[in-house]
Amino acid sequence: MKQNIYDNETFFKGYNNLRKSGVNYNDFVEQPAIKSAITDLHQKKVLDLGCGTGQFATYCVENGASKVIGVDISKNMIKKATIENAHERIEYICSPIEELDLKNIKFDLIFSFLAVHYIEDYPALIEKVHRLLEYRGEFIFSTEHPIVTARKEMNNWVKDEDDNKLHWAVDDYHEEGKREQHWFIDGVIKYHRTLSTLINTLISNGFVIEGIMEPQSGPDGLEQMPKLINEKRRPSFFVIKSRKCS
Ligand SMILES: C[S@@+](CC[C@H](N)C(=O)[O-])C[C@H]1O[C@@H](n2cnc3c(N)ncnc32)[C@H](O)[C@@H]1O
Repeated sequence: MKQNIYDNETFFKGYNNLRKSGVNYNDFVEQPAIKSAITDLHQKKVLDLGCGTGQFATYCVENGASKVIGVDISKNMIKKATIENAHERIEYICSPIEELDLKNIKFDLIFSFLAVHYIEDYPALIEKVHRLLEYRGEFIFSTEHPIVTARKEMNNWVKDEDDNKLHWAVDDYHEEGKREQHWFIDGVIKYHRTLSTLINTLISNGFVIEGIMEPQSGPDGLEQMPKLINEKRRPSFFVIKSRKCS
């Protein structure tokens, strides 16, 4: 099942306000990690799966990418991308990743940031990425960490009566599949997968893992968003850098 939650107006408004504030997990934890994993964008053909409003597509062209295609299921996101992050070397396509059908083009780099946990069929995604990558091309993606998506209740902090966080509960870890969560609105659907599934599916499809990250915030983030100290107790994100080698 494909859910297009970013076209729900309440969700879209909440998400946009969060991103616009600049004080969020993306800016302080996830984005610095993925940017540190990228070694060279110069003259690269890039595909960004789940590109959102195109900020990363712009980052790619500003750092020398020769062509960027950004794909997103959400009309709201693509509309905002075409207004705020238009560039002659960027093309946006409004389509579910699952139905993306690009012919006669292969990419040097494929990125996907915080979209993979919305995709139900992970092996099909990895096969598609493999098909669309040049030999030796890189696939770098971030996803919600499996210890965040594991517990079916998705309400993981166990607190005392004074609301102090005692510890993070992990449960249902080996029960992969659909999870439903309240995030701005009820009924946001994500898919939980174990670390071994995330990694081994890449390996069995001809990728070599070049690095994994469980990022934390730097001092800047901790100063502006003190609750990021909790990233030391449990990571929110998991980043994989892989390369097509066969
Ligand atoms: C958390 S946002 C991240 C956006 C962008 N990658 C970034 O890091 O700023 C997730 C994005 O994935 C998109 N998305 C979710 N499911 C998708 C699907 N099946 N196909 C294409 N895009 C999808 C959403 O519409 C949303 O724009």
